[in-house]
Amino acid sequence: MRDLECKVLKNQRVGAYTYLMEVEFPYTESILPGHFFMVRSWDGLDPLSRRAFAVADKGKDSLVFYYDVVGRATTLMAKLREGERVSILGPLGKNLFPLEGEKHLLLGGGIGLSGLSLLAKELRRLGKEVFVCYGARSSQGLAMKEWLKNSGLNHRIFTDDGSEGEKGSVLDCLKDFGKEWIVHACGPKAMLRALQGMAEDKKVYLSLEAPMACGWGVCLGCVVRSKDGKFLRVCYEGPVFDFQEVVF
Ligand SMILES: Cc1cc2nc3c(=O)[nH]c(=O)nc-3n(C[C@H](O)[C@H](O)[C@H](O)COP(=O)(O)OP(=O)(O)OC[C@H]3O[C@@H](n4cnc5c(N)ncnc54)[C@H](O)[C@@H]3O)c2cc1C
Ligand code: FES
Repeated sequence: MRDLECKVLKNQRVGAYTYLMEVEFPYTESILPGHFFMVRSWDGLDPLSRRAFAVADKGKDSLVFYYDVVGRATTLMAKLREGERVSILGPLGKNLFPLEGEKHLLLGGGIGLSGLSLLAKELRRLGKEVFVCYGARSSQGLAMKEWLKNSGLNHRIFTDDGSEGEKGSVLDCLKDFGKEWIVHACGPKAMLRALQGMAEDKKVYLSLEAPMACGWGVCLGCVVRSKDGKFLRVCYEGPVFDFQEVVF
């Protein structure tokens, strides 16, 4: 884990409320799918804590994050200009996406796809079969659509209102994939909860989000329960969990 002030290489709007930020980071070899960083782009105590963002991609000397502007911290992040510095702490997360198995179905809800894009890239590098289902409430929430199209990955797109792709939810595609497909999902809590009730015949891994203050296991702000009642810190025992093991 490193705590660095990194140069912003890019911070541009790529959707109705989504930004792509690329930062200089010379230690990318250790970054694996599922890792996240705690980010701070402001001085002072408002907001008090850093915010968590998944690594969406990595280059030789850089990291890419996609983020939705939803509140104070992300509004401040969107003001960062190229060449300015941003404080990042990471990589964080001890339990990451498993890469075993030959067929992998990735379900990304909204900005949740940014938690899966590095996984898609790595699985493909390993010669695995990868299929991505990407969905949002409407076309406005599909900020990573261009990334997905350019990636060359097999994919389907869904929107709740039918404004783009198929009308429906990413979960609708589950019935078209047999139990040999390992499912990896990241997205809104409601989507992940619904998935828990739908895919008993499959191996499913969820990358969870929870309010985080520290990101490395000390504040207990991010706990969820295991099926047998124990506390699990999303930042430390996660962020990826077998869907049979976690209650959230
Ligand atoms: C491990 C992890 C990885 C994440 N990766 C990404 C990412 O790649 N891209 C991205 O856009 N967002 C990601 N998030 C969510 C991101 O951390 C929050 O959107 C951010 O903290 C919001 O900060 P804010 O001050 O702008 O908004 P706030 O004012 O703090 O919150 C605005 C709204 O978002 C909700 N919210 C805030 N934090 C979280 C959270 N951690 N989980 C769920 N809801 C939250 C609040 O309840 C509120 O409704 C991730 C969260 C975690 C825990
Ligand atoms: S964010 Fe502090 S323990 Fe998880």
